[in-house]
Amino acid sequence: MLRPWQISLSQRIDAARSEPVYMQIIQAVIRDIESGRLTSGSYLPSSRELAAGLGVNRKTVVLAYEDLIAQGWLSSAGTRGTMVSTALPDPAGTVAPEGSEASGQAEYRFIPGPEHPLALPEGRGVKLDEGAPDGRLFPVELLSRAYRGAAQRLTRANGLQYRDPRGAPALRKSVAAMLKSQRGLPVTADNICITRGSQNSIFLAASLLIRPGDAVIVEELTYEPAVAAFAARGAKIVPVGLDHDGICLEDVEAACRRNRVAAVFVTPHHQFPTTVALRPERRLRLLDLARQFGFAVIEDDYDHEFHFASQPLLPMAAYAPGRVIYAGSLSKLLLPALRIGYIAAPVEVIEALAHIVSLVDGMGNTLTEHAAAELIDSGELSRHARKVRQIYAGRRTAFAQVLDDTLGDRVKYEMPPGGLAFWLRFASDEILDRIEAGAAGAGLRFASSRSFQTRADAPRGLRIGFASLDEREARGALEALRQLLD
Ligand SMILES: Cc1ncc(COP(=O)(O)O)c(C=O)c1O
Repeated sequence: MLRPWQISLSQRIDAARSEPVYMQIIQAVIRDIESGRLTSGSYLPSSRELAAGLGVNRKTVVLAYEDLIAQGWLSSAGTRGTMVSTALPDPAGTVAPEGSEASGQAEYRFIPGPEHPLALPEGRGVKLDEGAPDGRLFPVELLSRAYRGAAQRLTRANGLQYRDPRGAPALRKSVAAMLKSQRGLPVTADNICITRGSQNSIFLAASLLIRPGDAVIVEELTYEPAVAAFAARGAKIVPVGLDHDGICLEDVEAACRRNRVAAVFVTPHHQFPTTVALRPERRLRLLDLARQFGFAVIEDDYDHEFHFASQPLLPMAAYAPGRVIYAGSLSKLLLPALRIGYIAAPVEVIEALAHIVSLVDGMGNTLTEHAAAELIDSGELSRHARKVRQIYAGRRTAFAQVLDDTLGDRVKYEMPPGGLAFWLRFASDEILDRIEAGAAGAGLRFASSRSFQTRADAPRGLRIGFASLDEREARGALEALRQLLD
């Protein structure tokens, strides 16, 4: 007759599951020891008896017992059979009910994630992004050639080992040369730390700058994942006003008088989400305040290459490198999935960042970094930039036309001087509410207007990317949006 433990075991072993039966027996025995249902020194059924009870081959049970003995969970008591090792402690506390571990739920304290994920979840329907590139435009052959070349060279040189947390020297050099010649930053490779994209750069900068009790100033409309990163590092978030010329400096100054401000986060080239450029006089005033109050300006230049109204503006890091932590990225120019970004900052800041990288992920992806360096050095990246800039310029004009055709005067927007998105305003918040409530039903997904707000009275709008959609796709999406208003 089967003993109660055998019965409970037989209920948990199922040959139809993908794990081998002997592994299931091992797991069940260890779980029962861990939970206190099998105590130290107790005897297990003989392999013959258990095999018969489970309806499996005896060899399967022998194999499981042998492994458990070798691992120290069971011990062989000669002719008397197999017992739970007497070296194991009896469990403290109560015996866990059977099946409780199978739920897989955490039994420890942890900080839960937010109610809504920061990124739009994958799902059905058309995704209207916040300004992503069109990944279909990047020639896959270029990418595979760059990876192949990098893999060959690195393997020959035994270069795919643990390396410098600041990133591959080849890419740091290429990025420094590009920033110097194209954006006026007075940098060398020593001023560059390669990161896993702008978001990673923001989190690293937050870790470097924020001490308990510090505040970070952000605009009343801004990039939610950056705010979340500052908050996660313990910062007090202080929202300030924003107008057509960018961040309001009177508010910044007032906030600096009331708080110990570690950083001001801005996207001066193309303000996120409104797309406006920060005026030169405000840039100078912000840098003045940075000197006066000793905070760092985090300049997130996430889509620098795409400026349509004029030549791209020089980053603030070009003229005040000691007061700015400059974050750039290849996500918009190449592909978000490559996860290549960079920080330009004074050497001692780069060294401190390298330490944080060592704590977070040790180093970047050397293979991808070398492939990216190859694309920069061969001129392919610049060629690609020229090509897509032209395509996106066309899509920007076409998107504005489609907006006019479909939504007419029900939407207000200004042609974005740069970046890959439009900022759409509606006649009233009720209209916006109607659009947002009906979007899922109409097969549309986009970031909520409230996700940009750092205070509830900030004006609401939708940020809709135009670059990843061709004209037909844009028309289809905006038609669907219009139907929500009819
Ligand atoms: C303002 C801003 N900052 C940072 C990022 C993150 O980009 P990355 O892919 O480089 O992490 C984005 C992405 O859309 C962005 O819009």
